[in-house]
Amino acid sequence: MASRIIVGAQWGDEGKGKVIDILASQSDMVVRSQGGNNAGHTVVADHEEYKLHMVPSGILYKDCDCVIGSGVVIDPKELIAEMDAIASRGVSLDRLKIDARTHVIMPYHIALDALSESVRGDMKIGTTKKGIGPCYMDKVERSGIRMCDFTDDAEFRKKLKENLAIKNKIITNVYGGEPLDYEKVYAEYSEYARLLSRYVCDTSVLIYEAIKADKNVTFEGAQGTLLDIDFGTYPFVTSSHPVSGGVCIGAGIGPTLIDGVLGIMKAYTTRVGLGPFPTELFDETGEFIRNRGAEFGATTGRARRTGWLDTVIVSFSVRVNGLTELAVNKLDTLSGIKTLKVCTAYEIDGRVTKHFPADLKTFSRAKPVYTELPGWDDDLTGITKYEDLPLSVKNYIEFIENECGCRVSMVGVGPDRTQNLYK
Ligand code: GDP
Ligand code: IMO
Ligand code: MG
Repeated sequence: MASRIIVGAQWGDEGKGKVIDILASQSDMVVRSQGGNNAGHTVVADHEEYKLHMVPSGILYKDCDCVIGSGVVIDPKELIAEMDAIASRGVSLDRLKIDARTHVIMPYHIALDALSESVRGDMKIGTTKKGIGPCYMDKVERSGIRMCDFTDDAEFRKKLKENLAIKNKIITNVYGGEPLDYEKVYAEYSEYARLLSRYVCDTSVLIYEAIKADKNVTFEGAQGTLLDIDFGTYPFVTSSHPVSGGVCIGAGIGPTLIDGVLGIMKAYTTRVGLGPFPTELFDETGEFIRNRGAEFGATTGRARRTGWLDTVIVSFSVRVNGLTELAVNKLDTLSGIKTLKVCTAYEIDGRVTKHFPADLKTFSRAKPVYTELPGWDDDLTGITKYEDLPLSVKNYIEFIENECGCRVSMVGVGPDRTQNLYK
C-alpha cells in the first residue's frame, strides 16, 4: 500500500503513536496534517519510551522523512524543546520538514486558551491549554502568523505588532488578564524563528513527489474522530479535523492519492477533558482499567476517564472516515475482567438507535444498550501470533468486526512496538 491515513477512531489516545511507529518501519515518509502539541503520541522501542507531541512518530527510523504539514499549528518554543529532547537521545532530526503554511502558536494564544476556559463555567471544555483553539481561530479569521511570516523578520515584526495590539485589548479589557510586552515576545520568538527556518519548505510538493514516486507515505492522525470540530461531540472537541477528510487539506494532497484508511481504537473507551461519555465507568472496573492501562494523559498527565467499548462510536468512525481496516489496541488491559460489556446501540427517549446523534443534547440523553461477552484471564503480553490468542479474545475481535462492518487487521497486546499481532 503506497499511501495510508491513520486516524483515531474514538476520543484520542487510542495508541496511534505505537501503530505509526510500527508502520514507519516500512514507510518512506510520515506526515502530520492537523492538531499541534495537544497531541501526545507514545512510542516504546527497545524499552525506551518517547512521548511525541509535534514531531511525527516516524522519527526513530533513520530512513523515514518526517513532515509537519500545512494544517498543523506549531508552538515554536515547545517544538524546539521537543526536538532538543529527541536529539539528546541520539535521534537525528535532519529529516524533519515543516510546511511554510503552518500557523504559529504565540504566547497570547496560550493565555487566551486559559482565560476563555476560566469563564466558560458549565461549558468548560477541559482543553490542553496549549493555545490550539485560539490559534485556529486566528487562522480562520485570517489574522494568524504563518511559518512563512514567522521566519521573515520584517513580516513577523509587523504581524506580531498588529496581533498583539488587539490581543492585549482582549486579554485586559475582556478577561482582566495581564498584557504581553511586544519587545519581550519579539526577542524570544525571533530566536525560535531563526532556529526553525532551516526546516521550513513547501511540504505539499514533497508529499506529492513521494506518492508519485510510489513511496510509502503514512499520514499520522492526531486526536480522534469524536474530537473533530464538525463530527465530534461539539463543543467538547478540538479545533481541527482529525477525520480522514482533514488529511487532504492539512497535507495539501488530493483524495485520489490515498489508498487506505486505518482506524486505531482501544478495546475499551477513554476520554480526557469534559463532555458526555455514555459508557463511562465510575466504579472499580473503571479504576482497574485506568490503572492497568496506565490511562493518564501523555500531554497533560490528567487521569483519563474510562468506560466500556462503544461500537456505536466506532461504527460512526468507520462511516465518516471511510475506514478500510481497524487496529484494536490494549486487549491486554482487559485481562482479568470476567464479563465484558460492549455498547452496541443507544436508547434515547425510549427509542433504540445504532447511529451516533449529531446533537450533543440528544447524545447526553443516550443510555447504552449492552451486549455481554465472556472475558479472559490470560496474560496476553507475551503472545506473538494472532492464532495463539485465547478464543474469547478472538470472539471479542470478531464481534467488533461484525458490529462495525470493518476488518480488524492488527491487535495490540502491550505498548512495545513488538507487542502487535497481525490478523
Ligand atoms: P495516541 O495519542 O493515540 O498515540 O496514544 P497515547 O500514546 O496517548 O496513549 C496510548 C497509551 O497506550 C500509551 O501509553 C501507549 O504506550 C499505550 N499502548 C498502546 N498500545 C497498547 C497496547 O496494546 N497495550 C498496552 N498495555 N498499552 C498500549
Ligand atoms: P492525541 O493525538 C485526547 C482533547 C482535550 C479536550 C479537547 C480540546 O494524543 O490522541 P484542545 O487543547 O485540543 O483545544 O482540547 O480535546 N484532546 C485530546 N484528547 N488525545 C488527544 O490527542 C487530544 N488532543 C486534544 O483533552 O477535551
Ligand atoms: Mg495521546
